This record gives sequence, C-alpha cells and structure tokens, in this order.
Amino acid sequence: MIVNVIFGSDGGATKGVASRISKKCQGRAVDIKTASPADFENCELLILGSPTYGDGTLQTDWEEHIDKLRGARLKGKKVALFGTGDQESYPGSFVDAMGILYDEVTALEAVVVGFTDTKGYDYLNSTAERDGRFVGLALDQDTQSGLTDKRVTAWLSTIL
Ligand SMILES: Cc1cc2nc3c(=O)[nH]c(=O)nc-3n(C[C@H](O)[C@H](O)[C@H](O)COP(=O)(O)O)c2cc1C
Repeated sequence: MIVNVIFGSDGGATKGVASRISKKCQGRAVDIKTASPADFENCELLILGSPTYGDGTLQTDWEEHIDKLRGARLKGKKVALFGTGDQESYPGSFVDAMGILYDEVTALEAVVVGFTDTKGYDYLNSTAERDGRFVGLALDQDTQSGLTDKRVTAWLSTIL
C-alpha cells in the first residue's frame, strides 16, 4: 500500500514520529511546508499529523499551508490522523489539533480510519475525542514517550 505521511513540527517531536510511522509502512514522510497537492492525493493511505500549540491550535506550518489540504481531492480517500501533545501540561486541550484535522478532512468527505481508545491517557478535555474515542492516534512524547512505539505498531496494524 502506498502511504504518505504529512506532518508539521516545531520542535521535532512530530517529525520524529512521522518518520517512525513511515518507516514501519514503507511510506514517505513529507513536511507540510514542502508538500504538494500530489502528496495528498497520490497514495492509498494518507496519514496526517500535527502537534497542538497555543490553547488547542494546529501547528503554525499547518495553519499557514491549510489551503493545500483544503484544495486536495480527498472524497472517499482513506485518511488516518495522529496528534502529538502533552497531557500533563495541557490537559484541557490535549491533542486538539487532531480534532481540527479531523473536521477538515471530514468536510472533504474523506474516510477517516484508525480511531483509538482513550484508555491509558490522563487528560480533562480534547476536541480530538468524539463519542468517547480519539479520532486518530494520540501520542505524548513529553510524558509517555516510552509507549509510542507500541502504540504506533498497534495502530498501524488496524489501518494498513
Ligand atoms: C507553547 C506550547 C503550547 C502547547 N499547547 C498544547 C496543547 O494545547 N495541547 C497539547 O496536547 N499539547 C500542547 N503542547 C505540547 C506539544 O504539542 C508537544 O510538546 C509536541 O510533542 C510538540 O511537537 P513538535 O516537537 O513536533 O513541535 C504545547 C507546547 C508548547 C510549547
């Protein structure tokens, strides 16, 4: 399966996760800063990832380049999402950016796969939680980095 992983990252944590994910599925990791419309469309599975900043916003490169996503033809396309965040320092907006990406791709009529359990996380509120599940894979490189590899592997096995 041809997999493209498009990410934004300020500090490098999300970039690191994106490259780990892409390695595990022989995919390509592409920074949203340099992504082309073809990167969104020319794959069988599109994975999008962003850290959350501010009080629950998308990473700035995602914000600046959001029109690339909005212009992509994703109707019926299989899309999976991941988000990086810090549940201890930001428990009221944990991985909210993943919820923003979810609303964006849902508006484009993409088929979102890879919802996950909220068990094992400790936070108060997340817009990435819908009907008791995360809309994608929530990762916390600040306080639970030791769980990331296992979480990524388990998640990929459900979406590939
Ligand atoms: C100023 C600031 C605001 C943040 N706000 C949130 C937040 O609202 N929710 C959250 O889950 N994480 C928040 N984080 C944590 C980052 O999302 C987390 O550290 C992430 O791994 C950073 O990814 P990056 O290194 O790819 O930029 C914030 C971090 C900083 C420095």
